[in-house]
Amino acid sequence: MAKPKVLVTRRVPESGIQKLREVADVDLWDEDQPIPRDVLLQKVRDIDGIFCLLTERINDELLDAAPKLRVVSNMAVGFDNIDVAACTRRGLPVGNTPGVLTETTADLAFALLMAGARRISEGERYVRAGKWTTWGPLLLMGPDIYGATLGIVGIGRIGQAMARRAKGFDMRVLYHDTQAPPGLDEKLGVTGVDFDRLLEESDFISIHTPLLPSTRHLFSTAQFKKMRPTAVLVNSARGPIIDQRALYEALRDGEIGYAALDVTDPEPIPMDDPLLTLENCLIVPHIGSASVATRNRMSSMAADNLIAGLRGEPLPNTVNPEVRAPKV
Ligand code: GLV
Repeated sequence: MAKPKVLVTRRVPESGIQKLREVADVDLWDEDQPIPRDVLLQKVRDIDGIFCLLTERINDELLDAAPKLRVVSNMAVGFDNIDVAACTRRGLPVGNTPGVLTETTADLAFALLMAGARRISEGERYVRAGKWTTWGPLLLMGPDIYGATLGIVGIGRIGQAMARRAKGFDMRVLYHDTQAPPGLDEKLGVTGVDFDRLLEESDFISIHTPLLPSTRHLFSTAQFKKMRPTAVLVNSARGPIIDQRALYEALRDGEIGYAALDVTDPEPIPMDDPLLTLENCLIVPHIGSASVATRNRMSSMAADNLIAGLRGEPLPNTVNPEVRAPKV
């Protein structure tokens, strides 16, 4: 019997590719840049499964072009690039990679928090520009991390991992989440508060909520005005949760102290974005889950999801479990 055909939309860690090659004919877009949309729409015409990344929009246009498609597997925990409702309507299970990237992403968020507080990227630019002429008693001072208050927006898996790290630094941890699991405050030694209180009382704020219609521009001018003028804002979730123009103005005008971003809106950030002119803004290119081990696990997990879908079995990790019986 002919093997099913799958498309892998980027060069990804081998762990997943090896698994896929055992059961499918793999069309691998073996590049570091995303597959152009028109090529993607051509390539999906006769595939049974797609292994995609957050750079591919999986929407009606693509699904219409892929009449044989049986399963969509995203190598990411976030899935705002996918029209899940459209997939569900067509009986297509959608897989993602939760859990395996929790600690790695929290590591990066905490690294951003520390880098923002201690002005690491400014310091590095300073040294490379040949400005380091003496030890400076006033040079590059920032807030303390230990003992400070961290506000976590979204206390799911990654938010909780962030809280555990903060506890190791003797931080007071507040969080805001309308769907926090019961018993969390006692278990982690954290305090659930309303959003305004979190904004007002936090020295550091770290965003760990998914991008949803309700979280788009959750941070805009009104929120920045409530924050402390020294506050450090960390975003390792999704760029559009912050109104980026408002963030620029808040950083420029000293409404808040610093932003450390792993995600922007759009991605990549255009080189003429005014945020890039600010010293008090640190931006890295969406590398939250980028440890060798985690990316290997994500690739392998995305392959497992895809293979299960091709076999008509439930996906080990799916975002639309209501699609119970994939088409075979
Ligand atoms: C990365 O941003 C992910 O959602 O896995």
